[in-house]
Amino acid sequence: MKNTVATILEQKKRKDKITMLTAYDYSTAKLMDEAGVNSVLVGDSLGMVMLGYEDTLSVTMEDMIHHTAAVARGCKNALIVADMPFMSYQTSVYDAVCNAGRLMKEGRAQAVKLEGGEKICLQIKAIVESSIPVVAHIGLTPQSVNAFGGYKVQGKDEETARQLVKDAKAVEEAGAFAVVLECVPDKLAGLITESIHIPTIGIGAGAGCDGQVLVYQDMLSMYSTFKPKFVKCFANVGEMMTAAFKQYIEETKAGIFPGEVHGFRMADEIIEKLY
Ligand code: KIV
Ligand code: NA
Repeated sequence: MKNTVATILEQKKRKDKITMLTAYDYSTAKLMDEAGVNSVLVGDSLGMVMLGYEDTLSVTMEDMIHHTAAVARGCKNALIVADMPFMSYQTSVYDAVCNAGRLMKEGRAQAVKLEGGEKICLQIKAIVESSIPVVAHIGLTPQSVNAFGGYKVQGKDEETARQLVKDAKAVEEAGAFAVVLECVPDKLAGLITESIHIPTIGIGAGAGCDGQVLVYQDMLSMYSTFKPKFVKCFANVGEMMTAAFKQYIEETKAGIFPGEVHGFRMADEIIEKLY
């Protein structure tokens, strides 16, 4: 079944949990799509997990378009959401619409995601008015790591909790069709989920959200640089990769690989003539 903005909205009403995973390349996106994930997010987390930067701030529009186009070629049914990178929408409403348009036109995304609540509602409204579906992202917004002073859980005290509820209502009002809640206490995420009509997609926000999202290198234990508390390891792919790489090195050095089955044959009389 093809996932669309309409089917994702419908899932909230039916209480059918929305599943989202990040992907950054064709092969991985294709595996996820075939597994039946509702949505694939080309996250700007690619700066960290794919490109090895310390945070997401260095990610460019060119990076996002390049990876989104690869993911789009691998997906038949999953809804493709692309992150708007740092400084591609904060600077002005005009920049926001142009850059969202590039992710759709050049990257073939089907929706874009922006970090921020009330502060970026003018951008959300203008992008939605350009017929581009928007996912908002509130709570721990990694592009604000320098303003936050680190990656910290958001909304623990009354004032910031109230602000997050306001932000969620504001992005719904501005036209976002879903909102990611990152690192928000479970109960606050549950309250927000009940307070708005659009689906909440949680990461470190508990089971009360309408859906979940994870970075695939996190859920497969492939990214050892940093492991957040909210991550569950669904398969130890990092260890499997290391074991396979080591086995390849050993077998190649020992002459076990390549075996006869991996090679090509030719007629003996031809090779004899060459000796
Ligand atoms: O960039 C990303 O991977 C994200 C998800 C963690 C929501 O924004
Ligand atoms: Na992101």
